[in-house]
Amino acid sequence: MFTQAIKVENLTKSYKDNHVLKEVSFTVPKGKIFALLGSNGAGKTTIIKIMATLLRPDGGSIEICGCDVVKQPEQVRACISLTGQFAAVDELLTGRENLWIIGELRHLPDKNKQGEKLLELFRLTTAADKPVSTYSGGMRRRLDIAMSMMGQSPVVFLDEPTSGLDPQNRLAMWEIIQSMAANGTTVFLTTQYLDEAEYLADHIVVLHEGVIIADGTSEELKEKIPQGIIQIQFRNELELAKALELLSEYASYGGDREYTLDIQTDGGAMQFADILNRLNQSNVEMVRFAPKQPTLEDAFLTLIGEKKGG
Ligand SMILES: Nc1ncnc2c1ncn2[C@@H]1O[C@H](COP(=O)(O)OP(=O)(O)O)[C@@H](O)[C@H]1O
Ligand SMILES: [Mg+2]
Repeated sequence: MFTQAIKVENLTKSYKDNHVLKEVSFTVPKGKIFALLGSNGAGKTTIIKIMATLLRPDGGSIEICGCDVVKQPEQVRACISLTGQFAAVDELLTGRENLWIIGELRHLPDKNKQGEKLLELFRLTTAADKPVSTYSGGMRRRLDIAMSMMGQSPVVFLDEPTSGLDPQNRLAMWEIIQSMAANGTTVFLTTQYLDEAEYLADHIVVLHEGVIIADGTSEELKEKIPQGIIQIQFRNELELAKALELLSEYASYGGDREYTLDIQTDGGAMQFADILNRLNQSNVEMVRFAPKQPTLEDAFLTLIGEKKGG
């Protein structure tokens, strides 16, 4: 019996001269939620396509449920389900019919019962008999994932399951993903959102420029990512320059708004107060002063910085 649901070793893949994956390795234990975090174009979908036997790797070995994706693609396909960026829903059919067809393809004896349960879980019961062409983006995404859950594959791939969803549907999706794992399913998801990976995943790997730059639990990753960033927006260029001089002891970098600084602190109240005092005493004009949620870019900056520093 295999203990790792997914085992990827030294995976490489290029599209012509574009070396998207350069020796990527990770393992996913059974029954866990695993997040592959990376910005747009990092190679997340490429990894999922290779694991789902839709694309051949250039090198390395990939085992899903103990089976090799290149040598035993049929066995791998029997063990997985796939959903996400390449939605498979049929527009002309209703939600219920879409689920029924999957049940039929997978020879599920209780397809009707499973279909009803999934419609309910994904809040699609009232829309079940309307054609999918009338569904909203969130409803389509939910149906797509419901379809992937027909037959309860031991391993489920979710490619950016919450992209394009509003906050309410995003939360609903998080709950569904958690209930999948609670039922023993191994969930492999990709995301561009740090908070999503932190909230959901037992284990996170960060893919950047073709390699895994971080690998650990959400707690372990959090320790490496700056938490105490304060973002301050100043009245104008002159005020910003004054602040830079007053706060020269703090590491800071230009924020994504006009005349804005992201200042790194230890997250404690003393440093908050100190920064505010210095600026107030010199009458520096501020427009905004707020703690900042670290973004994936912040995480990259820190993680890559660490790498370079050795
Ligand atoms: N079929 C393809 N042919 C050529 N280049 C591709 C193909 N698919 C993806 N790429 C390129 O590979 C890189 C990774 O793409 P992808 O795996 O889709 O990233 P992600 O899912 O993380 O956004 C991108 O630079 C993309 O342009
Ligand atoms: Mg993608």
